Amino acid sequence: MTDRAVILGARSAIATALARELAAAGRPLVLAARRADELEPVAADLRLRFGIAVDLLEFDALDPVSAASVPARVAAAFGPFDLVIQVFGELGRQEQAQQDPGAMRRLIEVNFTGAAVALGQVANYLEARGQAATIVGITSVAGDRGRQSNYVYGAAKGALALYLQGLRQRLNRTHVRVLTVKPGFVDTPMTEGLPGLFLVASPERVARDILRAVARRRDVLYTPWFWRYIMVCIRWIPERLFKRLRL
Ligand SMILES: NC(=O)c1ccc[n+]([C@@H]2O[C@H](COP(=O)([O-])OP(=O)(O)OC[C@H]3O[C@@H](n4cnc5c(N)ncnc54)[C@H](OP(=O)(O)O)[C@@H]3O)[C@@H](O)[C@H]2O)c1
Repeated sequence: MTDRAVILGARSAIATALARELAAAGRPLVLAARRADELEPVAADLRLRFGIAVDLLEFDALDPVSAASVPARVAAAFGPFDLVIQVFGELGRQEQAQQDPGAMRRLIEVNFTGAAVALGQVANYLEARGQAATIVGITSVAGDRGRQSNYVYGAAKGALALYLQGLRQRLNRTHVRVLTVKPGFVDTPMTEGLPGLFLVASPERVARDILRAVARRRDVLYTPWFWRYIMVCIRWIPERLFKRLRL
């Protein structure tokens, strides 16, 4: 029997596309989200269309107990799993985070602390289980260089990318793989109405790229692919020049 895939932050647009792709491939799913019971119509639709098991799990990345207990709760309630994809995140508003210490703390806690705690416990569970498995963490190209327009979100995502890099090295001699995903702009509720977007990808495109990278056992994925080269150029701009730019 195929093990389950667990999606953390299952109401997100990218998560919805991932769930559909995984279900179409016959993967049983655990959809973890805040107000998980509201996802029942989505779960029912996936069960009906693809004939797979879809279970729901209450999950709040800002609640330390909820984040840390994810692997134990999934295993106890639904059985073994071998793929965990952390999708949740919050863009927030940079100006608000600059003025309001609570808003800044929240952005860092959702995007970094919640993800690090949940995936850390998932890693321990999968390492102890001793079977082939994959952990996927979604960071952002925003984590590759600090910019005035989103450096609080970017710092949290950059920290998550560093964390995943260390986790990948720690687990390298085990059966557990770690994939870091760095999307560019994606057409989701997170970016709706934002000025200055370009080369915007669909969530379906990003979901397909992620699952292909899982199958190919990749370490780091920029999606769509051209963001890898855009970010090489952005990282190469000397700091003396970069600090004068309006990005
Ligand atoms: N869209 C982009 O351009 C873009 C670019 C780079 C990276 N990303 C990253 O891609 C991932 C998916 O984003 P998306 O574009 O699909 O955005 P989205 O549709 O706005 O989804 C974000 C999801 O995160 C969930 N979430 C927020 N705080 C949470 C918490 N404390 N506990 C559990 N879930 C929480 C939200 O849950 P609720 O439904 O309960 O509010 C929401 O479903 C995020 O990590 C984002 O940072 C997105």
